[in-house]
Amino acid sequence: MAPTDGSAAWDDASMHQIGHIDDFPIGLVIKITIEDRIIGVVRTLQGIYAFGSLCPHQGAPMCSGIVTGTMLASQRNQYIYGLDGLILQCPWHGYEFHLDSGRSVGGVVRGRLPVYETQLRGQEIYVQLTRLRAGSDRPAKSADG
Ligand code: FES
Repeated sequence: MAPTDGSAAWDDASMHQIGHIDDFPIGLVIKITIEDRIIGVVRTLQGIYAFGSLCPHQGAPMCSGIVTGTMLASQRNQYIYGLDGLILQCPWHGYEFHLDSGRSVGGVVRGRLPVYETQLRGQEIYVQLTRLRAGSDRPAKSADG
């Protein structure tokens, strides 16, 4: 099936159907295995995200991470919370990673969490195992528009 949103063509051969949308409750990280690779998948109010299972800092199991938001850059004595549902916090040392890009919040971790493209086709979720590269951030999207 070709994408309907004008984005680059999907490589259907590398797309993996991982389940019905109801199998992924909002905010709950689901650990799945595809081709011997463990990835985490989470559905938030902002989209559906897939990521690698190991933290780029010291290898914590990111499927045990917490989906959250973070404090935004702000003036002194201002505390502004944002990006709710777009951040994954590591269970070991608490560093935070953007679910759409895998970059650490504030660039405090040198490496990136691997992230993978997802697609919602009807009510079924698909993941493409090709890692998204830096600068190719794309939110989860629906093939239905
Ligand atoms: S292992 Fe993830 S922040 Fe240290």
